[in-house]
Amino acid sequence: MIPPSTLSAFGPGKVILLGEHGVVYGYPALAAPLSIGVTATALLRAGSEEASVEVPAELRGPGRRLLVEAFDAAVRVSGAGGLRMTLDSELPPSMGLGSSAAVAVACAGALLKSRGRSAPPTVEEIARVAWEMEKVFHGTPSGIDHTTSARNQLIHFRRAADGDPSKAQVTPVTVKRPFGLVVALVGERPSTKETVAALRARQARWPERYARVFEQIGTLVEEGRGAIERGELELLGDVMDMNQGLLNALGLSSAGIEEMVHRLRAAGALGAKLTGAGGDGGAVIGLFEEADRVVTRLRRAGIKCFASRIGEAAR
Ligand code: PMV
Repeated sequence: MIPPSTLSAFGPGKVILLGEHGVVYGYPALAAPLSIGVTATALLRAGSEEASVEVPAELRGPGRRLLVEAFDAAVRVSGAGGLRMTLDSELPPSMGLGSSAAVAVACAGALLKSRGRSAPPTVEEIARVAWEMEKVFHGTPSGIDHTTSARNQLIHFRRAADGDPSKAQVTPVTVKRPFGLVVALVGERPSTKETVAALRARQARWPERYARVFEQIGTLVEEGRGAIERGELELLGDVMDMNQGLLNALGLSSAGIEEMVHRLRAAGALGAKLTGAGGDGGAVIGLFEEADRVVTRLRRAGIKCFASRIGEAAR
């Protein structure tokens, strides 16, 4: 059989439903895959050992160098070679929607597939290669982003004490009643690395008070997980609202985020909160039974947003 000259793999974006930031300190979090993400396509080059990535034209500044560095790390650990990778992303970058993890998972999947083994790569293999890329992109992330993307399912995640994501406690969460999210984009924000480092400095100065808030967020995560498993969407919404209040208390919200949170609640959201690292901007999620109609209305009012369904069959 003639080997195919191209192959591709998909990495979904993600939303953190509850528990961002606390997850860095060992508290639990819940995250779900989006239906949109990144497709990596490898053009195979027989007779060549070299593997390279085409940097998308829209990627600016240090992101260009980081992508090449991260890709090289993934090539080394996957043992792949003889290909040129191109990327096609549906995700807005740097918005807390897991675009770098989606790139990492898509590249990892395509690199592993390119080795031509008969069995498709396992989730664990993909996550291991993607982690090498995530470390280059983010330093020492909790690992929740690429784990959610690699598994492509709603998970309850708790990082291991040594930060090794292959030792994290990861449990799939059953969604009794699928629900809709409106994902609204608020605008530019600092990098996750900067926001996490600034919070780390405040937490190191006043550890007891910050630990109390992380503990509370961890309790909300468990309540939210129960609500999802039992299909109690009003309860889940209330938990999301309270999580937003605590993220604000930690200094992770902004006027723009708060305005969007209130806007989504006024549009009928059962709950709304920032998702991801927060800071000045990024993305806000609103919980709705049916999100599509709300998106049409909000777009008419000039808000950049899209709908995502949580708990239905993955792409
Ligand atoms: O990069 P973002 O915006 O998806 O944020 C990731 C979530 C944090 O908990 C803030 C950081 C982490 O490593 O888990």
